[in-house]
Formats: sequence, structure tokens, C-alpha cells
Amino acid sequence: MSDRPGRTAYAPVTEMVVRDLEAILGASGVTVDEDKRMAYSADETLPRFERDYPADAVCFPETTEQVSAVMRYANLNLIPVTPRGAGTGLSGGAVPAHGGIVLSLERMNRIIEIDAVNRTLTTEPGVITSEITRAARERGLFYAGDPCSGDISFIGGNVAENAGGNKVIKYGATGQHVLGLEAVLPDGRVVEFGGKRRKDVTGYDFIHLITGSEGTLAVVTRIILNLLPLPRRVTDLLVPVPDIGSAVRLVSLVMTEGGIVPSSVEFMDRQSILNVEKYAGMKVPFSEDAGAYLIIQLDGMDRSSLWRDAERIGDICAGNGALEVFVAEDRSSRDRIWRIRRLVAEEEWTGSMPLLSKEDIVVPCGAIPDFMNELPTIARRHRATYNAYGHIADGNIHLTLFPEDAAGPEDLHDRSDRLRRDLYSRVESLGGALSGEHGVGLKRAAYTPMFLNEAGIDLIRSVKRAFDPNNILNPGKIVPHA
Ligand code: MLT
Ligand code: ZN
Repeated sequence: MSDRPGRTAYAPVTEMVVRDLEAILGASGVTVDEDKRMAYSADETLPRFERDYPADAVCFPETTEQVSAVMRYANLNLIPVTPRGAGTGLSGGAVPAHGGIVLSLERMNRIIEIDAVNRTLTTEPGVITSEITRAARERGLFYAGDPCSGDISFIGGNVAENAGGNKVIKYGATGQHVLGLEAVLPDGRVVEFGGKRRKDVTGYDFIHLITGSEGTLAVVTRIILNLLPLPRRVTDLLVPVPDIGSAVRLVSLVMTEGGIVPSSVEFMDRQSILNVEKYAGMKVPFSEDAGAYLIIQLDGMDRSSLWRDAERIGDICAGNGALEVFVAEDRSSRDRIWRIRRLVAEEEWTGSMPLLSKEDIVVPCGAIPDFMNELPTIARRHRATYNAYGHIADGNIHLTLFPEDAAGPEDLHDRSDRLRRDLYSRVESLGGALSGEHGVGLKRAAYTPMFLNEAGIDLIRSVKRAFDPNNILNPGKIVPHA
């Protein structure tokens, strides 16, 4: 069998296959109900994928042994399997591109242990990320992974995508918190890498190969996470600035001259703020004059050192063109600031509008002003409007692009492709990458060759073959079919 089969190379999910799966999982562990199959065939990527890539069956394993048995069966019978967390992904990573089985990890939802001595938390993959944060906090410890979808995403999905989010500048993306993994290989064998130990150079670093592999190499069934001391104090600053160039300069000065590493530095462009004001019916201060807004968050152990840092940042901002600095120490003012940021990313309005694309590009921070200055020209060339926001200290910019005019779905598809190629070639020439944190998945697989040369693409395919010679685990992702 070729390593990149078309759908016809896979075996169909027949009634007999369903009966075999029920023998492994019990009758309640498998469904072929049409509504369920549709619901489990899309994530939050727009436009939605379920009509183009419907699953044939959805499985709900409860143990590693069951995951292993399903994978062994699927591998022997050449049935594609797509692992799925909470379905909050933004790149089609959990979409069954070749049909077959969607393997939902939602019933593997136990936090197994918090070990205060070793500062670790061991969990199954189907636990909501914010529950992990809460459980650690109750023990006076801190899980620093903080994807924006933390209240709805699963930790397993965060590991699969190496989710980033709001605290990467200080604490790193999900992979930096993963100390150990148990995972099921496509042929059903169970492997364990890492553990509670803090160092390990025994062999290749499979933890960080599997983390971020978008569920294409193995199904993660248990995760050991690193915990930190819990920061007792948090302060947020909202800083309107005249333009994006000033925002980038300020972020750099805070860290170099100020010697401060904030726990978050987020930005929203003027259009993002105008959208929030319009759709949420709220007024954001300085929205008439500001070209962009920064949210800077500081965390630490005591109030006085946080206050000193906030003052230092205030001085740097005042000396470098900021229009104002709002400091929020109490919970409700801080929540008000973050509500603006959350609303910017909400699908409430974008979901109902024709969309060209939602992008997640990343460039070196110093290249952000060039990129943002060229955006209006690129957008004009494709008759698009846009708003931009994201994780400025990581160089990670989320762009939501709309057609300026009315357009049908076919037209949107072609225009989106042309626009994205144009955008990506500029991103690549600035030293950037296709996706900072949302992943390549199905949505961006065709564009990976714009960023990796042939040798790089070949290596991805060889690694995939080494794990999954029959190409049954989440096929159709990350690189284009040859
Ligand atoms: C965010 O930063 O808000 C998230 O990555 C999600 C999004 O952009 O929709
Ligand atoms: Zn983000």
C-alpha cells in the first residue's frame, strides 16, 4: 500500500466493522448515528468541514487498552482513525479527512494525580484545560499552559497542537510543560516517554516530537505536566498606542530597558476594537485615536514588586508615545480588560459573515511593523478587509479576513487561496511561518511547501512512515498528498 493512499485505498466501515468495534468498546462506545457523525466531523475551523469529510463511525474509548485495541484493529484492517479532543481546533486537525473512525477521547477525562513533592500533575487527555489549572491552584501550584480556549479545550488537544496562547512569552507553549507521555502507536503498541524526572537525554526527544504532531504519530492517552509555584499577584495594564510600530517598540523596551518579562503581552488593532465596540455595544477608551492596544500582564509573588514593575512600564510607555496607561489590579477591572480581548476572537459575528480566512501567522517580532504596514496593500489587492490581534511578544498575529464585496462560496474559496498564497509568501520572506499555534491540520496542508524545502517535506513524510507505515492515523494533515 502506498504511504499516501486516496480514500479508496482504505477499507470501508461496514456493519461487521461496527460490530467488531462494539466488541472492543461495548455498544455505548461506538455510534454511527448521522447527527453524531456530523457533529464529530468538524472542529471550529471556518468554513466548517463536516459535509466534505464525514466520519463513518465515532468511537469513545475509556482506557488506554481500548485505544490500543481500536488502533490494532484499524491498522490490521486499513481503516483511518482521527483522534479528537474537544473539537475546538482552528485548523481542521480533528477532521476525518479520509472518513473512517473518529476516536473521541472525551471519556478519558480523569485527573489521575497531583504530586506536590515532584510538582507534577498526571492526567488523561479528555480533561478541560482550565480544570487542570484549577486543580493545581487548589494545591497552591500553577499550571502555566494558557490557551485562549482553555475553558473549552482538552489538554490532549493542547498537547496534540502544542497550543500556545496568552502566557508563552514568560512560560512557553504547552510542550514546555510536558514532562512525560503515554501514547498508543498506530499499530496499537503502547509507549511511554519521560516521566516525573526533570532531565532525560536517553534517546530521541519523542515527547516533543509527539507534542505538536497534530495527532498524526500517536494517540496520547496520559500526560505528566510540570507545575510551578503559584504566582500570588497579578496586574494587568491596558495601553492604547498610536500605531503598531509603537506597540512593537514598547514591548521590546519593557523587556530590554525595563528588564521585565511580562506573563502576557497581547495586542489588538484599531479595527478589532471597533468590531468589539460595534458588536458588543461597549465603549473602549481612546478608540478614536489609538491605532492599536496592548494588554500587558504581570504576575509575581508580592504586591510591591509588581507595583514597581507596573510603574517602570508606565514610565517607559509615557516616554515612548503611549496615549495612556490603565492599570488594573482588582479582579473586576482585570476581567473588563480581558473581556475586550476575548470578544475580539469570538466567533459570534465572524461565524455568520462570509469569510476569506482566519490566519495565524508568526514572524520575528522585529518584522511585525513591516508586515502590518504591507497588510493594507495585500488586502486591497484581494478586495479584502481584515482585523488583526494576537500575541505580539511572540510575533504571532491572528488575522480575520473578509471579502469587501458579496461573494459566493466558490469565488470565496479561490480568492482565499490566492490571498493566502500572497500573504504567506510575504510572511516567509520576513522569516516567518505558516502557523504560530493553531496548527497546519487540513486547512493549511497545501501550503507547507511554501515554508519547508523538499528535504524538509520528505523528512516529515519519513517520520510519519516510521510511526505509521499504513498511514491510518489522521491521514491528510500537515503536508500535501503527493
Ligand atoms: C486567540 O488568541 O484568541 C486564539 O488563538 C483563538 C482565536 O484567534 O480565535
Ligand atoms: Zn491565539
